[in-house]
Amino acid sequence: MNIQQNYSLKKLNTFHIDASAKYFLEVASIEDILEVLSANKYLNQSKLILGGGSNLLFTKDFDGIVIKNNLKGINLINEDSDFYYVKASAGEVWHQLVIHCINKNYAGLENLSLIPGNVGASPMQNIGAYGAEIKDTFHELEALNINDKTLHTFSNADCKFGYRESIFKHELKNQFIITSVTFKLNKRPAYNIRYGAIENELETMGVKELSIQAISKAVCNIRRSKLPNPEVMGNAGSFFKNPEIMKSKFDRLKIEFPDIVGFNIENGNVKLAAGWLIEQCGWKGKSFGDAGVHKFQALVLVNYANAKGNEIFDLSEKIMISVKEKFGVGLEREVNII
Ligand code: FAD
Ligand code: EPU
Repeated sequence: MNIQQNYSLKKLNTFHIDASAKYFLEVASIEDILEVLSANKYLNQSKLILGGGSNLLFTKDFDGIVIKNNLKGINLINEDSDFYYVKASAGEVWHQLVIHCINKNYAGLENLSLIPGNVGASPMQNIGAYGAEIKDTFHELEALNINDKTLHTFSNADCKFGYRESIFKHELKNQFIITSVTFKLNKRPAYNIRYGAIENELETMGVKELSIQAISKAVCNIRRSKLPNPEVMGNAGSFFKNPEIMKSKFDRLKIEFPDIVGFNIENGNVKLAAGWLIEQCGWKGKSFGDAGVHKFQALVLVNYANAKGNEIFDLSEKIMISVKEKFGVGLEREVNII
């Protein structure tokens, strides 16, 4: 075990926050994980499992052991007349898995192209974009129980997926290390272009015949045009979730704010565009030192250079207060605060 001490995490989180870990270890196999979980010295240390660091905000140094999950491997483990079953290890880069599946003509992940991060974190918040979520293609995952070191299999239902939610953010928070995820991918693609922007982009691209390759390309184009590249400007994507409110409340808000952006959802409620709410409160493009609100996408908080995690957190707090005051709507952070 090559455990390092006082290890800088600056290059390992997409906000580029200059935090450090008391202990740091990269693991490449389940045996590596078992070894560290069994070592007396680290038994009582807090543990943080790190993937690509693209959904985290460090507000302080981590006083425990950070375990960077580098388990690799993508394998077709089964198929039936309708589906391919593809098992990916937790340390695979998410977009590399998407590309692998597209190249093999395994359909279902194309709308989720270019989401940063690793496979192991994808079920944590049921990643979603452009009309798809992983719960639509998720088959099962394997995870190690941190306390008793047993390996468990979780089905789709076991994970209790919701909008940016899973059991691993609630009842089972900090209790499991996800080691692999298996996806159930279509042999016959069911193209999903109900998200308007995809249709427009396909038209701009001059696509005559739909394919999963074309949809992936369209999604990549849209994402590159909308979201700041973390390599260039520190960020963790949407900082808040889009809030869900009752239809009756939406109708009342619509009278006062006729341009309010909301979408009807299956349960009869309305999902509001948090970016719109934040922009209306005057935050878009504002910055305080190096902590700011992106100038084209108000839902994304950014680190222009050397912001501290606390400064980003304090800014998020101010935004939440002002949105609550103006619209009576509470925002919830999507990013994990450490
Ligand atoms: P990390 O940030 O490393 O970890 C996130 C959480 O998961 C932490 O609590 C961590 O402890 C835990 N964790 C990580 N790996 C494991 C594991 N193996 N076992 C147990 N726990 C684990 N998200 C979307 O849903 N849709 C988007 O469209 C989207 N766009 C984004 C765009 C940008 C520019 C950025 C920077 C982020 C975006 N995100 C989006 C958020 C982010 O990409 C996802 O949440 C992603 O799944 C995080 O993966 P990660 O490996 O970086 O996780
Ligand atoms: N809007 C504004 N001002 C802004 C930003 C947005 O008015 O500054 C309004 C616009 O009307 C726009 C609407 O908000 O039409 C929605 O914006 P956008 O299409 O950019 O999507 P989003 O709701 O901001 C969500 C996800 C993204 C995902 C995209 C595409 C959440 C919290 N965010 O963003 O996920 O990529 O849709 O599906 O659900 C992430 O989770 O990190 C993330 C980036």
